[in-house]
Formats: sequence, C-alpha cells, structure tokens
Amino acid sequence: MALLLWLGLSLLVAVRSSAVKNCHPGCHCEVESFGLFDSFSLTRVDCRGLGPSASMPIPIPLDTAHLDLSSNAMGPLSDTMLAGPGYTTLISLDLSNNHITKVSPNALSKLRYLETLDLSHNHLEHLSSSCFSGLPLAEVDLSHNSFQEFDMDLFTAKVNGEPVSVDLSHNKIVSVLASLHGRVLHIQSLNLSANQLSSAPSLAGLPLRYLNLDGNPITQIKAGAFAQLKDLVYLSISGLHELQQIEPYSFKGLQSLQVLDLSNNPKLKNLSLKVFSGLDSLQELNLSASGVTSLPTNMLTHLPSIRSITLAQNIQCWRTQKQGQFHRQMGQVHHNEVLTCNVEGILL
Ligand SMILES: *[C@@H]1O[C@H](CO)[C@@H](O)[C@H](O)[C@H]1NC(C)=O
Ligand SMILES: *[C@@H]1O[C@H](CO)[C@@H](O)[C@H](O)[C@H]1NC(C)=O
Ligand SMILES: *[C@@H]1O[C@H](CO)[C@@H](O)[C@H](O)[C@H]1NC(C)=O
Repeated sequence: MALLLWLGLSLLVAVRSSAVKNCHPGCHCEVESFGLFDSFSLTRVDCRGLGPSASMPIPIPLDTAHLDLSSNAMGPLSDTMLAGPGYTTLISLDLSNNHITKVSPNALSKLRYLETLDLSHNHLEHLSSSCFSGLPLAEVDLSHNSFQEFDMDLFTAKVNGEPVSVDLSHNKIVSVLASLHGRVLHIQSLNLSANQLSSAPSLAGLPLRYLNLDGNPITQIKAGAFAQLKDLVYLSISGLHELQQIEPYSFKGLQSLQVLDLSNNPKLKNLSLKVFSGLDSLQELNLSASGVTSLPTNMLTHLPSIRSITLAQNIQCWRTQKQGQFHRQMGQVHHNEVLTCNVEGILL
C-alpha cells in the first residue's frame, strides 16, 4: 500500500526535463514536464550574457514561462524589447545586470501573466507605477539600483506625475472607481535594498508582505512612515550606516508585522517605548550590531507577541513567565512576564 502511494505520488510530482529544438543561438531552452503522463509542462529559457550585439526581443518558444535575460547590457527598456511572441506567457523574468536606466511606460504591458520580476543591479532612478499596472506582479526586486526616492502611493491619483485631487461630488464615483481599478497593484514582496533612498518609500495601497530597505542612506524614520502597510509581515531596515533616529510611532499601522530587522545600524543608539507602538504581532526583533544597548522598561506591554529580541552580537532575550505568580488579573495578562537574556546585567 505504502509502495503504491509512493509510486502514485512520484508519478504526480516527478519533473522530467527535455531540451527544446528551436532555441535562439546562445540561449538554453528546457521543457519541464510534471504530473501524471506529463500533463503539465513549463518552458524555461536561459539567455544570460548573450553579448551587446543581441537584438531585442530575443525570439523565445511560444509557451515560455520563465525567462532569464540577465547580463545583456540592454540599456533603457523600450516598448518593443519585451513584446515578441512567447513573452505574453511569461510568469517570471530576470532582467538583472542590464545597465537599465529607464523603463518606458508600456515596456512590460504585454507580460499579462508576469508574477516575478528581477530588475536588480541596474541604474534605475525613477519608475512609474503605471508600468506595473494591470500585471499580476507579486514579487519585484529593485535592489542595487539608484533610486533616491520611491513613490508608489496608489492613494494619490497622479496625472503626468503630478498629484491631482479626486472629486467625488456630482456622481463621478463610477469613473473614479474605474481609474483606481486600473492602478491596482498586487505586489507582495518589494526589495529596495542597496539604493540611494534618503527616506522611507511611499507605498500606501500596496498589499506588501515583505519589504527590504537594507543599505540605504536613510538618516531618520518618521512617525507613520509605514502606516498603510497593514499586511506587512517582514520588514528589514538593516545596514543603514546613517540611521540615527526612529521617531515614536514610526511603525504604527504595521499590525501584521512578525519580524523587524534593525541589525547593523551602528548610529542608532536610542529607542523610545513609543517606537514599538502598534506592533501587536511582532515576534522577532533584531538589534544585533546596532548602537542600541538597552531597551525601554515596560517594553513587553507594547509587544504582546514578542518571542525573541537580539541585542548585541550574541545577546539573545526571550519572553518568560515569572515563577510563583499564578494570579493573573483580567487585562493584565502580561504583568508577570519578563524578558530573560543569556547575558547578565542587561538593562531592560
Ligand atoms: C533583496 O536584495 C538583497 C540584495 O540584492 C538580497 O541579498 C536579498 O536576498 C533580497 N531579498 C529577497 C527576499 O530576495
Ligand atoms: C534618548 O532618548 C531620550 C528620550 O527620548 C532622550 O531624553 C535622550 O536625550 C536621548 N539620548 C540620546 C543620546 O539621543
Ligand atoms: C540578526 O541580524 C544579524 C545580522 O544581520 C544576523 O546575523 C542574525 O542571524 C540575526 N538574528 C536573528 C535572530 O535573526
């Protein structure tokens, strides 16, 4: 019986790969088949490093799902470079290391099924949210670019980059909804690490779950900086050598946040209790190799879900119950819980 089950399962999940005949010279094309009798297949095309003479769009098989175009010195992305047959079925696209300075507004518009886009290691300074609109993009990697600011705030309507006020009077609601609908973005994971950002990005309206701001020259996080990101689970603000201050209520609104990485911020010395306000789901706080050596007293009252706090390199603290106090009062459940660290003399 177990053997039959095992056979059945392996028939279902087994991946068979075979090469594709009509593949562009220099590319490597592979069909991966899955399922019983190979009922599903995905074509994966690798056209890395073809050299600057490669002319875009590179012809790819008609049903390609994954395409790697990294390291091709593509330069500015025009409306036609990704518009060939086969591009409409792409689920993931790697455009990293391509000297991309600009993405024209319709460059990605044919990629109707695109979920994952890697634009890391390019020279982007600006990106209009309209170049992603209408795509089912869930994951965007923009790390190692040149963004000095980043604004994808979907709540502020913009025309030609200028904010406009939305007039809801006189029954214009239908057209307002239609125009908002066209701007809906589905991005859940956004990587902005290693850019030139001097302040936290405006991302209101994105259903983000993962956000990485590591290694940016941000000096200060302002109150309410992430106020609209109620779905965010993981926030990394690590390796910011200029970060000196996190204002009270900076993380307010991050009701789903479970992991906050503030490690490797050597100039960050001081965190007030109110910095942690609103972090009701936070389980893990990493302050390793930051300038913060002590934590505000009563911190646990603000962090009802916290499990672990990492302070200096090897100092780890956990939530524990004070022994011998079983008498809890309603509404004061956390009263007899304390943080215990693996090093003595930590001021908490
Ligand atoms: C974000 O980018 C950095 C730098 O490229 C990388 O180390 C990190 O793994 C990326 N995060 C994710 C989730 O891909
Ligand atoms: C740390 O914060 C407290 C209260 O917010 C303030 O009184 C104190 O001056 C700060 N210390 C430094 C070194 O910034
Ligand atoms: C905290 O951050 C440091 C440095 O980035 C990392 O090495 C360590 O694994 C992290 N600790 C936890 C508990 O995540």
